[in-house]
Amino acid sequence: MLDLNILPTPVEYILYGCLFLGVAKATILVLSFGSLLFDLLLLPKASYKKYGSANNCWALVTGSSDGLGAEYARQLAAKGFNIVLASRTLSKLETIAEEIESKYKVSTKVVAVDVTKVDEAVTQIAAGIEGLDVSVLINNVGQSHSIPVPFAETELSEITNIININNVFTLRITQLLIPILAGTASKYKAHSLILTMGSFGGLLPTPYLATYSGSKAFLQNWSASLAAELKADKIDVEFVLSYLVTSAMSKIRRTSWMIPNPKSFVASALNSVGKRVGAQERFATTTPFWSHALMHFGIDQTVGVYSTIANSLNFDMHKSIRVRALKKAERARKEQ
Ligand SMILES: NC(=O)c1ccc[n+]([C@@H]2O[C@H](COP(=O)([O-])OP(=O)(O)OC[C@H]3O[C@@H](n4cnc5c(N)ncnc54)[C@H](OP(=O)(O)O)[C@@H]3O)[C@@H](O)[C@H]2O)c1
Repeated sequence: MLDLNILPTPVEYILYGCLFLGVAKATILVLSFGSLLFDLLLLPKASYKKYGSANNCWALVTGSSDGLGAEYARQLAAKGFNIVLASRTLSKLETIAEEIESKYKVSTKVVAVDVTKVDEAVTQIAAGIEGLDVSVLINNVGQSHSIPVPFAETELSEITNIININNVFTLRITQLLIPILAGTASKYKAHSLILTMGSFGGLLPTPYLATYSGSKAFLQNWSASLAAELKADKIDVEFVLSYLVTSAMSKIRRTSWMIPNPKSFVASALNSVGKRVGAQERFATTTPFWSHALMHFGIDQTVGVYSTIANSLNFDMHKSIRVRALKKAERARKEQ
C-alpha cells in the first residue's frame, strides 16, 4: 500500500522546482564566466596563417588613417599582410603607408575616398584592389554624432552620413569583397576574414546617440547572419564590440583601465578572433578587451542590455556628456 505521507506536497514540489532552476542557473553562470576566463587567459591567440599571412595576401582596412583603423593596418602588417588603406585624407594615408612599409617590409596601397559618396567610393576601392589576393576585410570606418543630441533635433546631414558610412557603405564594400575573399581562400586552401567594428553604443540602446546606436545594432544582426551564410565559402565573419577607446571619435585622450588606447584594443581584437570573451551570449561576436568583456558579461548576467535600468543609466550619462559638450562649445564661441 502506497504511503501518501512520504510523497512531497504541492508546496514542496514548487520548492524543489525552484531549487533545481536556481542550481541550473548558477551552474550556467559559473560555466559561462569560466568560458570568458578561458577565452581571455588560456585559449591561444588567433593564428593569421589561417588567413594567408604567409602567402603574401592583402588586408583592406577602411577608415585607416587614424584611430583604430590605423592600428588595425599596423598590426596586420606586423603579422605579414600587405595592406590597402582607405579613408579621406591622402596625406595621412601616405604617412601611415610609408611607416608600415619601412617597419614591416610589406607592400601597401592607398585609396583616398569619402565613403559618404558610396557609389564613387566602392568603384574607387574596386579599382584599387583589382588583381590583389585580399583575404582580410576590416570594416572599421564609422561615424557617431558630433555630440549627444536628441533624435528630434539631429541634423539630417548627420543622420544621413551615419547611415551611409556605418551601414550602406559597409554593406556595399562587403558585397564587393565576398567573391574576392572566397577566391583567395579557395586559391590558398585557407580561410578569409571579415571583421566589423561594433560598439557598446549599439549593444545598449543609447538615448541621444539614437542613430549611431541603431546603425551599430543593425550591423550586429547583419554580421551574425553573414557569419552563417559565408561559412561554406571559408570566410570567417566576426563582429567586434567595444566600449570607449581613446581616439578622435571618442574625444578621450587619457587611457584608464576601462578606456584603452587603439593599440591595446586592436591587439585584443585581433587576438580574439574566433573567441567570444565578453560576448558569451552571442554568435560570431567578440567583446575582446578584458574590462569591456567583464562589463558586457556583468550587464548581460544582471539587468540585461534592454532593461529599463541600463537604458536609464545610459541616458543619464549621455545627458551629462551633452551638457558638458554644450558648455565647452559655448566657451569656445566666446573665446573667438
Ligand atoms: N573610439 C571609440 O571609443 C569607439 C568605441 C566603439 C566603437 N568604435 C568604432 O570603431 C571604429 C573606428 O573608430 P575610431 O574611434 O578609430 O574613429 P576615428 O579615430 O574618428 O577614425 C575614423 C577613421 O575613419 C576615417 N573616416 C571618417 N569619415 C570618413 C569618410 N566619410 N570617408 C572615409 N573615411 C572616413 C577617418 O579618416 P579621414 O578623416 O582621413 O577620412 C579615420 O581614419 C568606428 O566604427 C567606431 O564606431 C569606436
